[in-house]
Amino acid sequence: MGHTGNPMEDSRSRFGDLFGASPAPLIARAPGRVNLIGEHTDYNDGWVFPMAIDRHVWIAFAKRSDPILRVHSVAFKETREVALNDLESVRGSDWFSYVAGVAWAMASSGIDLSGIDMLVDGNVPVGSGLSSSAALEMATARALCEASGIAWHPKKMARLGQKAENEFVGVNCGVMDQMASAAAQPDCALLLDCRSLETEDVLFPEETTIVVMDTGSRRSLAASTYNDRRASCEHAVEILRSVEPEIRALRDVDRDLLESARPLMDNITFRRAVHVVEENLRPLALAKSLREGSFELAGHLMNSSHASLRDLYGVSGKELNLITDLARRHPACFGARLTGAGFGGCAVALVASEAADEFIADVHTSYTAQVDLPSEFFACSPVGGAGLVDIAAMIDTRSPITPKE
Ligand code: GLA
Repeated sequence: MGHTGNPMEDSRSRFGDLFGASPAPLIARAPGRVNLIGEHTDYNDGWVFPMAIDRHVWIAFAKRSDPILRVHSVAFKETREVALNDLESVRGSDWFSYVAGVAWAMASSGIDLSGIDMLVDGNVPVGSGLSSSAALEMATARALCEASGIAWHPKKMARLGQKAENEFVGVNCGVMDQMASAAAQPDCALLLDCRSLETEDVLFPEETTIVVMDTGSRRSLAASTYNDRRASCEHAVEILRSVEPEIRALRDVDRDLLESARPLMDNITFRRAVHVVEENLRPLALAKSLREGSFELAGHLMNSSHASLRDLYGVSGKELNLITDLARRHPACFGARLTGAGFGGCAVALVASEAADEFIADVHTSYTAQVDLPSEFFACSPVGGAGLVDIAAMIDTRSPITPKE
């Protein structure tokens, strides 16, 4: 296998080596995401404000004539296959369950799927909170739609990806990550109402850059802690319904109503509900501040969100607190917060674009001086959601290399 310098083209030739056939000329590709603000609000029917980033999962694929789903993962160095009428047999929580789960969710919504061979590769770090799983789900859905001749509906596919994760893999996530990966627009962050799935594309200002700061720490208990937070929110809603029966989710609750129910709640439930109710106001406020170029205010909102996740919701961690503290001390930083579920993984900083490189070098140096973990810092750019990439066209239109004089 030769290297072309284009990793997606390399995936196509690897597909040929592995499966002995040519893949489709198009590559299915879906991005990972950061969440700018609105954390742990999606499963409360609230607002979120994620941004799809220039890290992707991509899939070289070819339709098969028999009803088999066969998939090779480059990251996991493994090929797996299952018959489309026996998807249930691979229910579980490994990488293949995410792929098979999407096929299962699509089939159970009445979509008639063709068999397919897929080679999955990508550059979204796995398990760091940048939604490599949602990217895998949406790239899978994109490839399956193309092979099966089905039109692409981003919102519908996001819902099916969430269903796959909730019901097939057993992770009780909300819909934010799949929506960001499926429906984001280029150069924009996605303001999303998780109840209606209405979206607004907010142009991300060029004067600022989002720097991803991967702490290098990973939390193995993340899933159970996440489910425990969801349960607290549902418990709070049950109590609030005894005061105000119309309430469906914490999205419907304001601070006054919450205060009135305080005597009925234990302290932990109350504090977690306060986080959700206040955090739910931040996505709209951050979108407004970015549109108006009020970066100090934007940074302040991000810092408040982090403090609330740390002190009220209890989902930060030692490394996430340290990395965001160090970031805030840098003069180029407007604000910083953990991104995604929390516990470990990544934080994001809003940084003046002209000083982003300097910020990365300085803050990474101070962090690694204190923490011996495989941390990574990088600037990211907003990209559009899942799509098909025409590799042949990309290569043909590349300008010829001019020999050096
Ligand atoms: C994870 C979940 C999302 C969301 C965030 C927290 O990323 O997959 O649905 O709940 O955590 O905001």
